[in-house]
Amino acid sequence: MKAKGSENAVSRTGFVDSDSEAVRLRKILSPAARALLDLKERALESTAEGIVIADASRPNNPIIYANRGFERLTGFPVEFALGKNCRFLQGPATDRTTAQAIKQALVEQRPCRVEILNYRKDRTPFWNGLSITPVRDAAGRVTHYIGIQSDVTKRRQAEDALQEANHRLEMANRTMKRDLAAAARIQQALLPSSAPQIPGLRCAWTLKPCEELAGDALNIIRLDEERVAVYVLDVSGHGVPAALLSVTLNRWLTPTSGPSPLRTVDGDAVAPARIAERLNRQFPLDPRTAQYFTILYGILDVRARTFRYVAAGHPAPLLLRRGQAPRALTAANFPVGVVPEPRFDEDRVALEPGDRLYLYTDGLPEAENSGEAPFGTERMLEILGACREQRLEASVERLVGAAEIWREGARQDDDISLLALELA
Ligand SMILES: Cc1cc2nc3c(=O)[nH]c(=O)nc-3n(C[C@H](O)[C@H](O)[C@H](O)COP(=O)(O)O)c2cc1C
Repeated sequence: MKAKGSENAVSRTGFVDSDSEAVRLRKILSPAARALLDLKERALESTAEGIVIADASRPNNPIIYANRGFERLTGFPVEFALGKNCRFLQGPATDRTTAQAIKQALVEQRPCRVEILNYRKDRTPFWNGLSITPVRDAAGRVTHYIGIQSDVTKRRQAEDALQEANHRLEMANRTMKRDLAAAARIQQALLPSSAPQIPGLRCAWTLKPCEELAGDALNIIRLDEERVAVYVLDVSGHGVPAALLSVTLNRWLTPTSGPSPLRTVDGDAVAPARIAERLNRQFPLDPRTAQYFTILYGILDVRARTFRYVAAGHPAPLLLRRGQAPRALTAANFPVGVVPEPRFDEDRVALEPGDRLYLYTDGLPEAENSGEAPFGTERMLEILGACREQRLEASVERLVGAAEIWREGARQDDDISLLALELA
């Protein structure tokens, strides 16, 4: 190991030196100074990090000291490293820009810290967390550089894995958002695009989902020259699961082809209570999803001025009549699907010219303010009374807007649907 007199001779401590020189120097030290020197040497040798010292005064900054940590980390014996520039640790996939950054720091004689891909003696790559600091003499001249190396491969791999997982998550999120937006557009397309053309009838509606997709649905279907069927429904829960059922129900109530369940074979209108019964049979509560829904289904006869409806677990419609205080009509039935063969009772109201009916889902009266107080039906009636002289569309906007103001900026936590009808 020892090649006495040669330039690369290695002392016990790993310094390029000769043993005799080292021995001579030790001899002239006081016992205390010797003890301190021994301690420093032992400390350098026992640290897990690789430590190298390079000579700044010689071309190519050759290594003049490497500890055992360096040997353990790189697999290269100290004797091999001495006299060489540390770049022998670099290899095919080492980033040249990082090496360039080190070079620049050395030129400017300032410390630097990098993570650089290095290769062990057996050519296995590892990430080297490298810190290089200039060492100055009493006159401030840089005489050496000290380099401290540690294996940061595991952390880098964990970071890479995390980055990869984040990337995949982001992609999945993007796809999900795109799909949700497409599904929301499909759902919007299921809303009535225009009011049915029946003289003496005005309609206005709005549906505000609390998430991208709604569990609410509403529709106005022209049955004949004087009658429309209307419904507002609300599936339990929100989001995609509720939306899937609400779209299914929409399609069931208004199929794009084939016979409509709203008409008998003779083309007459099916009674609202029968519709509720059929829905109850067709969509029983699924114990796996525990989903059910409420619906207000009615038939408005514009000429006879009657509204016949069934409110299955659903809030009662509100009636606004000239010269009278606005009021809620009656409603008392089970929601759809929760009991096997319930009795669905119909209600019928005789209407007068100028009457307005407001059908809605509970997201509207149950909108809560910061004190968790609900918006409430009473307040809805008050607001409707106050905007009696406004157009029907304006009254719909006003009511939904008032609920939004009531929420005081809190998140809307349920879908809100409102369908208004007015007789001329
Ligand atoms: C004290 C010291 C320790 C060094 N340790 C390493 C090291 O562990 N790994 C490495 O890739 N480069 C290390 N280097 C950097 C290279 O020796 C060299 O300076 C760098 O690759 C830039 O020079 P080049 O572009 O001529 O290769 C060290 C440099 C010094 C001065």
